[in-house]
Amino acid sequence: MKNLKLNLDHLYPFISKDQINSIEPEVTKQLSVIHQKSGKGNDFLGWTDLPGRINDGDLSSIQSLAKEFSDKVKVLVVIGIGGSYLGAKCIIEALTHGFEIYRTSHRYPVVLFAGNNISEDYLKELLEILDDQSYGVVVISKSGTTTEPAIAFRIIRDHLVETVGKKEASKRIIAITDSSKGALRQTADQEGYRSFIIPDDIGGRYSVLTPVGLIPIAIAGFDIKQLVKGASTMQVITEEKIPFWENPAALYAAARNLLYRSGKNIEILVNYNPKLHYFSEWWKQLFGESEGKENKGIFPASVGFTADLHSMGQYIQEGARNLFETTLSVENPHYELVIPADENNLDKLNYLSGKRIDEVNKMAQLGTLLAHVDGGVPNLSIEIPRINEFYLGQLIFFFEKSCAISGYLLGVNPFDQPGVEAYKKNMFALLEKPGFEEETIKIKGKLQ
Ligand code: PA5
Repeated sequence: MKNLKLNLDHLYPFISKDQINSIEPEVTKQLSVIHQKSGKGNDFLGWTDLPGRINDGDLSSIQSLAKEFSDKVKVLVVIGIGGSYLGAKCIIEALTHGFEIYRTSHRYPVVLFAGNNISEDYLKELLEILDDQSYGVVVISKSGTTTEPAIAFRIIRDHLVETVGKKEASKRIIAITDSSKGALRQTADQEGYRSFIIPDDIGGRYSVLTPVGLIPIAIAGFDIKQLVKGASTMQVITEEKIPFWENPAALYAAARNLLYRSGKNIEILVNYNPKLHYFSEWWKQLFGESEGKENKGIFPASVGFTADLHSMGQYIQEGARNLFETTLSVENPHYELVIPADENNLDKLNYLSGKRIDEVNKMAQLGTLLAHVDGGVPNLSIEIPRINEFYLGQLIFFFEKSCAISGYLLGVNPFDQPGVEAYKKNMFALLEKPGFEEETIKIKGKLQ
């Protein structure tokens, strides 16, 4: 089976091979820092060899639980935010038929998400739907105390208990959390929920290959063994011993750091398939939270083409020249659809008749790439043969590894997120949370 390929052809007008060679010692050093566990945040490196450590038996047990669960409920509500949400969301979205719920015999359970916002409308509308559904809940929070999922869980748990009774509700809730700390662990133990552990040494945004991602993905009906297999192959080809020019994660980290040092401080992840929209959301969290600190870091943005060529395309072509793009390029779609001929040809599209839609999409992709490079936007491409569990697993591990190397090249700790506490502190002060009395006085003073 082919592996994901990093294509640097359209980087070279901006960054030469010699420049890449010149950063090699730094990259190799940081790769070794990861493997030797000698860098900042080194107690959060459990993900580096995780795919290879997951055994088939564990995956089979998750699959049996998933089967039992999915036979029982029509809807699964996955509650979580940030790293406890985006991994499962991006894989499920990428693999699900775009119009699944409108198919005559659609797959069960339908997966819905909650706890990733504090919108009253969102929760109320969700409850309205749940009123008429047989549903189960997977609640995910490493800390077990995050406000957004805690609010959603309190409300949805009460709704479930009202609907099916306390005993049955307990059977329909799976908790994924810390082994011993936090309110969710305590509740799970008290109420007898089935529970899974998020390892101490794996942070939220690196956790998709732990139960955080594997349980919802398996319940949604996708092949977690292939996902892990894809990640394992990427683990092997991004090891320390792999020569620099053969290690895609090292090369990607090298390229984006050289671009950053040359003034390109915004990276746009581009896709040409709406199925990958949430993959970009996952990627933005991974890189944004890992690198954006100490007043440094590439700002991770994303676009979905060709839709965004009709909005953001103008800026990318001619706006401030501090951008570069990384395109997720998928060789083969799942289906074939050909453009028909039309006798009247009023839309002048007959020149395309007989061509596949994907051929037009590919020419849009190539045309855009050439135009953007001409416009001064360096382009990297990450090529996969198709969107399936195996290649999504490869992409996940590839980006995790590159992100860790990149963060270390930048000189920051890629595994913490101290900045996310600032809004929480203000919100708690404004809501007068016990323990925040001083902050409440201060913040209210500012608002007068
Ligand atoms: O990457 C991270 O660590 C964060 O995005 C967390 O995943 C997010 O804040 C949710 O935290 P928790 O799982 O503790 O509820």
